[in-house]
Amino acid sequence: MSGRIGTDVVEAARALTEGGVVAVPTETVYGLAALARDPLAVRRIYAIKGRPSDHPLIVHVADETAAREWAREWPVSAASLAGRFWPGPLTIVVPHADFVPDSVTGGRDTVALRVPGHPVALDLIRRVGDGLAAPSANRFGRVSPTTAEHVRLDLGTEVDYILDGGPCEVGLESTIVDCSVHPPQVLRPGGVSVEDVMDTVLEVAPASGPSRAPGMMESHYAPRCRVVPIEPGQHVVNGGRTRRLDASGDPAAFAREMYGHLRRADEDSIDTLIVELPEPRGIGLAIRDRLSKAAAGR
Ligand code: TXA
Ligand code: MG
Repeated sequence: MSGRIGTDVVEAARALTEGGVVAVPTETVYGLAALARDPLAVRRIYAIKGRPSDHPLIVHVADETAAREWAREWPVSAASLAGRFWPGPLTIVVPHADFVPDSVTGGRDTVALRVPGHPVALDLIRRVGDGLAAPSANRFGRVSPTTAEHVRLDLGTEVDYILDGGPCEVGLESTIVDCSVHPPQVLRPGGVSVEDVMDTVLEVAPASGPSRAPGMMESHYAPRCRVVPIEPGQHVVNGGRTRRLDASGDPAAFAREMYGHLRRADEDSIDTLIVELPEPRGIGLAIRDRLSKAAAGR
């Protein structure tokens, strides 16, 4: 059944409980899932992605009660954020319970937890009855997938099943908030705005300085073409095949299509993709973060 793509949640759940690796739709991006309690299955995720084994994974659970089982402590900030944004595009980092395998945490004393907002993902997690470790379902450093077809093209023959839940509604990854420190720190901007996070926990240290989330500083989310983010009105001179996109008009709509645009630029053999940036607020902050990483090192 290797590489099969379909909408059969029962088959996806069976593959996972047998220790398989399954691509799963979420509202942010597709994830590459395995039973979080099964170190052998989790190791297969790293092998398929080509991801360094000290990069921790997010555990996806059905609700806040399930999340708390994976946590040694559940700070007030975690409870406030979970209450307001779960299910949804927010990941909460807390000290982990004793049983959580090192393969999930990368040997850290914390675990990242998320209740995804996609009905198919929630249905699957409930059927499996346990947490699913899942990074984005792309090869390490490459563009995240927002359709089942993206996953098939990248990893098709290596996963046991690709569960098709349609195109992702948000289109870029969850916001990560570290609630194991005080005040909580935003480690990655994403689907929930940093303004809304700050509004909920009142005191928050914005993302700054070296990131505490491993794997987020290097070039990432990268297509083969050169990505050139520009401020509105800025002019650039370029040779080669150039395409220009505008992310400033409707940032939420752009976010939904962003990774598709990056993939299409490569399919169309574009050399340089120029993107006019949105304002650095709301989802615009996450778009700017991803595009600056897509542009890094080129
Ligand atoms: O929207 C998302 O978050 C998607 C979907 C599939 O849920 N997942 C995702 O996973 O983006 P991934 O592995 O591509 O990115 C997760 C980030 C990594 O940069 C990792 O370092 C960070 O979360 N992370 C995971 N556990 C952590 C922890 N205990 N402390 C700090 N950072 C952590
Ligand atoms: Mg990723």
